[in-house]
Amino acid sequence: MQIFNGKAALKDYLKSIKTSNSTIGFVPTMGALHQGHLSLMQQSMQENQATVVSIFVNPTQFNNPEDLEKYPRTLEEDVKKIAALNPEIIVFAPTVEDIYEGQTVSESFDFDGLENQMEGKFRPGHFNGVGTIVKRLFEIVEPTNAYFGEKDFQQLQIVKKMVAKNNLNVNVIGCPIHREPNKLAMSSRNARLTPKEKEEAGIIYKTLLEAKAKFENNSANAVTNWVKKSFEKNPDFQLEYFQIADEKTLLPCLKKVKNKKYRAFIAVFVNNIRLIDTISLN
Ligand code: PAJ
Repeated sequence: MQIFNGKAALKDYLKSIKTSNSTIGFVPTMGALHQGHLSLMQQSMQENQATVVSIFVNPTQFNNPEDLEKYPRTLEEDVKKIAALNPEIIVFAPTVEDIYEGQTVSESFDFDGLENQMEGKFRPGHFNGVGTIVKRLFEIVEPTNAYFGEKDFQQLQIVKKMVAKNNLNVNVIGCPIHREPNKLAMSSRNARLTPKEKEEAGIIYKTLLEAKAKFENNSANAVTNWVKKSFEKNPDFQLEYFQIADEKTLLPCLKKVKNKKYRAFIAVFVNNIRLIDTISLN
């Protein structure tokens, strides 16, 4: 299995395996890999001659120092999981120095307002950090196709916007959300939940499903109030936001417009651990 810790060696290797009509698939991750990550790799392996997976806990996208410090780092196990899936996958696990060269700061991006909603509102600077790292990784790997999960739907739209605005030559492909048996969206942060918290966190997706059903005959505002009320009754969960938004602009739905695609987005704290989820509404 090929594992690279530095960008120069990775670039040289990719140059040596590239042919005129081969494609490179790329799956950026922050590690602590689960089935959701592995499904992106599987799709990339099916659709490309070579697949690169990056494992890098990107400091510039964490607005909360405690979250960065406690983010699970399990490189050895991650590499084993990737090898078990397919030993041909190329792993890129750089150091902070290799990526940031002593300047661990974000570039400033304009994502046409996508960055001002939801995750952007509650995690100031987060999407500048994501934009910075994804752009750098794209420059290093030069992928044909890059795979992102719909679990982070806002991130997916932001990466698509960055690619369009910078005329980058890469297809950004959105992939479905993988869930635990109780339908909790898989996340590296779930490793920090106790078994009881994890079981109870099934309520997040259950609420999204009920919200979807209610949205058929109710306004976005009425559904939002219902979600807020149901979480108020549940002291183990602190709702940070629930928003029904236009899938394209991510602006809140004030009045339903026929033929527009809407999506519900939620962020909830369980014992200081922040979980997000999303569902398409129509
Ligand atoms: P990370 O949270 O590790 O996620 C890596 C990729 O896996 C993202 O595209 C994410 O949407 C996807 N993913 C996570 N959970 C998933 C699930 N349950 N089902 C399907 N896909 C899932 O997102 C990041 O890292 C970082 O922001 C990154 C893009 C790597 C930049 O640092």
